[in-house]
Amino acid sequence: VDDLKAQIALSYSQHPEFQFEQQEFQLERSALAAFNDAYDLARTCGGRLSARQFDWCVQKCNRELTTAFDQLKGQTTDSNEACFLQELRGECERLVNQELRYFRRRTVTRGVSLNGSRARADALNLLRSRHFLGKLPAEAVREILDVGAAALTRFRETARRGGLRRDELSLYQGPVVRAILHILNREFRKQGALDALGAYTGERMWAGGASLELSVPQATWWANSFAGLPRSPKTLYAHIDETIASPKAIVYLSDVDRMNGPTSYFAGAYESLSLNPLQELVGRVVGNVGNAADSPLRAYYAKQYHQSMTSERFRRHFMKLPADMRFNSHFGWEILPESAAENSLCAREQFMVGEGGTYIVFDGARLLHRGGMLERGERIALQVVFSKTNLIRRMVRGMRTLWR
Ligand SMILES: [Fe+2]
Repeated sequence: VDDLKAQIALSYSQHPEFQFEQQEFQLERSALAAFNDAYDLARTCGGRLSARQFDWCVQKCNRELTTAFDQLKGQTTDSNEACFLQELRGECERLVNQELRYFRRRTVTRGVSLNGSRARADALNLLRSRHFLGKLPAEAVREILDVGAAALTRFRETARRGGLRRDELSLYQGPVVRAILHILNREFRKQGALDALGAYTGERMWAGGASLELSVPQATWWANSFAGLPRSPKTLYAHIDETIASPKAIVYLSDVDRMNGPTSYFAGAYESLSLNPLQELVGRVVGNVGNAADSPLRAYYAKQYHQSMTSERFRRHFMKLPADMRFNSHFGWEILPESAAENSLCAREQFMVGEGGTYIVFDGARLLHRGGMLERGERIALQVVFSKTNLIRRMVRGMRTLWR
């Protein structure tokens, strides 16, 4: 269970779909270390550095990122490979600057209370295992289901007619969602969940976004795997999220057991990967390469189901990256069946089963997770995204409450 990093490296090296006759790009250790050091300093000391010191970190990260990608670019004459590197570099620049801004945030203590024992326990669970579990009262679940009733009827009708895309079976904006968020924030605040999140992130948090979703067994986007393997890995769709600034929650609105799409999580797996900063950045965004409508790689890769690794050409490019900066945050699909990595991950996996109202609050960027893959029945759930709240948002919310 312990050496997940080595086990996953071994799994790729033995996986028949990831073997290519080609030389990996080389990245000088000093170039990798220069980026990682500057990034680590910003991540660890962000709020404590002076504006000038922090600005130095930002400049340094951007400069070293350029140096690293220039080194790789100098090793290819293939235009598609060059394009892959160019897009990956753009994605890394975008994400690193977003993360650096987050590291710079001023942490708060006012407005976050750990007086309640529940909030203290939840905060500790978030810090130690990147998640905590809870349950909304049955009345709150009923209230949410009432508000969402018309939408759910519509989703069931859409599914019956064969509409199975996620956007066809979910609702994430408009008055219904705003009403649901109001109920969620009221309940999460009462239970101390928002305080626990505030203690974890150092910012006052609230449920800022939600998506009401119906999952049905006919939707099989998650099941696709490599044709050449005797069976799929047991870790399909296990992934970490892209954004580090937005913890999430999954709230069941119907009873969920092992067969109708339980959310599951692999405590400690992210930590065991011991990714270096550049590798982690690459992993969070590499799947975006070739997705833009105007990308010359879009037609070249011809990815299926928005999954990058379904394209052999993409896999070839991915495997050209130096091992030290290679990672894919959605690696669950790529685990070799019967490998030590698969066994290790399965041994860690914990399933959240329970009645409607059961929820998990988690740091999706640092807790490997998956869910919504149904064998039978249906699942009604809310995907919730937490974000920083500020005075203006709190005032607007207060006024909405008055109008209600
Ligand atoms: Fe996720």
